[in-house]
Amino acid sequence: MTAGRLQLDREAFLARYWQREPLLIREAIPAFKPPLDAAELAGLALEAGVESRLIEYRDQQWLLQHGPFTEADFNRDAPWTLLVQAVDHYVDEVAGLRRLVDFLPQWLMDDVMVSYAVDGGSVGPHYDNYDVFLLQGEGRRHWRVGQACDSRSALLPHRELRILRDFDCQQEFLLEPGDMLYLPPGQAHWGIAQGECTTFSIGLRAPRINDLLSRWADQMLEGLAPDLFYRDRQIEPVSRAGEIRPRDLQQVAERLRVTLADLDRQGDNRWFGEVVTEPRYDVPVEDGELANQRALLAGGACQVELDAAGRVAWQETSAGVAVFANGQAQEFAATVLPWLVQLCGQWRLEGQALAAALAQPDGSQLLDYLLTTGCIYVE
Ligand code: SIN
Ligand code: CO
Repeated sequence: MTAGRLQLDREAFLARYWQREPLLIREAIPAFKPPLDAAELAGLALEAGVESRLIEYRDQQWLLQHGPFTEADFNRDAPWTLLVQAVDHYVDEVAGLRRLVDFLPQWLMDDVMVSYAVDGGSVGPHYDNYDVFLLQGEGRRHWRVGQACDSRSALLPHRELRILRDFDCQQEFLLEPGDMLYLPPGQAHWGIAQGECTTFSIGLRAPRINDLLSRWADQMLEGLAPDLFYRDRQIEPVSRAGEIRPRDLQQVAERLRVTLADLDRQGDNRWFGEVVTEPRYDVPVEDGELANQRALLAGGACQVELDAAGRVAWQETSAGVAVFANGQAQEFAATVLPWLVQLCGQWRLEGQALAAALAQPDGSQLLDYLLTTGCIYVE
């Protein structure tokens, strides 16, 4: 599941480019062999459970169609692009591309989207709200990088597509297989295929602050005693009937601040791990299959693999380690840490390490929890 090593000075990249400036990395992966070809990608887009889109530019209009597709959908005369989301969930070698950016926290990883375009195919000038590493697969794509954008940037009228009305080209690059273009959030970009080509987009996440705040507040509210009421012992006599005075508001704000500070001191940050490990798609764990997997594990299975779609993260706590798995949280003793790090880093646990984990109650509880949440499977 390895893709070769990214030819990049990580420290210099983080200091100078990350979330600031685009960067072209020529031969990011020397002699790159794309882990998936156009026909395999098209095959995925025929499947009902796979999220795919087709964008076509016809008669000066951008047209969008959602998958699943049929073979006939790929016979078009106007330039078109097929985009398949989360290909890393289905193809291990594509999941391996996530390792290219393993110097970033794993919880920041979103998915690897793969696109195929015919000559002239493009999804139009746009910007994304997250960082993306665009790795050229087969063929060549001409990229134009434009201005910094945000929600005030004018868009063309379209029900679903967010195509920029104006594009101010500032840099241009022709990407060949194995070249990579890093784009920070909000940077306008426009890639046009030169001949047929495939592009692997390693996309990171940018959780909405609204969502973070709302989940944080939910957890804060959970921790709050229901019989806590507002009081104001220093209240002052009113001089104008009906007024809400600045000092009243200050008192309320102060009371809320003190309450939040108290809650914060309890130090329960569970909400964050839960949010960032929420799976992209539902993970149904079927009872029969779970029983099967448990039996395999109890019978001395030789290896446990991290599911490519599973999201696992952990956090040290005063009691040990909180483990987040597909949106759930559970506390374990700190002894599970080496197994967790190995699972998250190597995506598998086998041999002596697996035997040692199974021999300890904490280790086997951890594996059972990861099985129940659909994050690992036994082989
Ligand atoms: C593409 O692969 O064609 C588009 C990727 C992007 O612009 O985000
Ligand atoms: Co984009």
